[in-house]
Amino acid sequence: MVSKRVYLDNSATTAMAPEVLSAMTPYLLSKYGNPSSIHFMGEEASAAVRKARGQVASSLNCYPSEITFTSGGTESDNLAVLGAMPGTGRRKFVTTAIEHSAVLEACAELERRGFETVMVGVDGDGLLRMEDLADAMDDDVGLVSVMAANNVIGTVQDIREAAKIAHEHGALFHTDAVQAYGKMPLDMKADGIDLLSASGHKIHGPKGAGFLYHRSGVEVTPQIFGGGQEAGLRSSTENVPGIVGMGAASELAVSSMKEDISAMIGIREEIIEGILTIQGAYLNGSRDRRICNNAHFGFEGVSGKDVVLRLSDKGIAASAESACSAGSSEPSHVLTAIGRSPREAMSALRITISRYTTEKDAEALLEVLPGVIASLRA
Ligand SMILES: Cc1ncc(COP(=O)(O)O)c(C=O)c1O
Repeated sequence: MVSKRVYLDNSATTAMAPEVLSAMTPYLLSKYGNPSSIHFMGEEASAAVRKARGQVASSLNCYPSEITFTSGGTESDNLAVLGAMPGTGRRKFVTTAIEHSAVLEACAELERRGFETVMVGVDGDGLLRMEDLADAMDDDVGLVSVMAANNVIGTVQDIREAAKIAHEHGALFHTDAVQAYGKMPLDMKADGIDLLSASGHKIHGPKGAGFLYHRSGVEVTPQIFGGGQEAGLRSSTENVPGIVGMGAASELAVSSMKEDISAMIGIREEIIEGILTIQGAYLNGSRDRRICNNAHFGFEGVSGKDVVLRLSDKGIAASAESACSAGSSEPSHVLTAIGRSPREAMSALRITISRYTTEKDAEALLEVLPGVIASLRA
């Protein structure tokens, strides 16, 4: 067992930042009014929601009215895909083979609702080829969804170019930025994004809080009906502490993004170089178009799940691919999409770091991992 817990599964979720907890606490303990109430406590709560909306909007260079708070990345993806497609008046939805299940399952639901979906493959690094996206387009495509950074192998897509291609055909462009938001610069106007999903708990904010950015003028049909909160787009009493935490986490992520990215890249590179010295280890995903906090490997002759369990016994938390599919015994659809065999895909280890990961954490991993792999091979 390493002397302290080492957490290297930050794409599954992150530790809450103390600043975020302090911002949220009053809205759990004393300022617990309902934003719809007309008394002073309602006003206090609605002012907090307004402030958070402004914090999120300034992180994306957009207007506060273009932000709808949700319960997280999954709901935002569902709202984007199922909510935006009908208003386009078109029948086709185009996405990639490596999206998160929140997009892929929404896509399956679109098909049940009579729409057609087209799935575009990626290359061996997990990158979407723009020619392939262009080939999938025609004038019946209403919405294109391409994730900004992949949750398994960390590949960063050229979303600006993908958005341009979507727009050339009069389609809307959505990006699932759950793994990218706060870890790479995103600018709704410059990037040409019409819809963007993000989640609080991936950026040291609370679980159960996220948002959808929808460009003004884009028609989005609600998927939850009731009291008309969030300008009618997302009924249900606002999760005020969660929203306040989302706003605080956004502001924090953006304010220290440059330094955090460069620190994370330093640690990530140390991990990649260290692990690649292990015989039979290889990197999955692109070497340079990779989100700052992700390192993803395969190891000849071992099961990724066994590696994760052995590391866990030693106090190191990592992942075999992604938390959402951790219970699955099927190889990851992302790894098979980049051409890995089922056997290779089952030997995956995902290391994801955060602004709180230290050099010592990386050293602990590099000290323990070669022995774990050797003992599993023996
Ligand atoms: C790329 C991506 N999209 C969507 C989600 C779902 O987000 P949430 O857990 O906030 O529902 C995740 C979570 O892992 C993710 O990685």
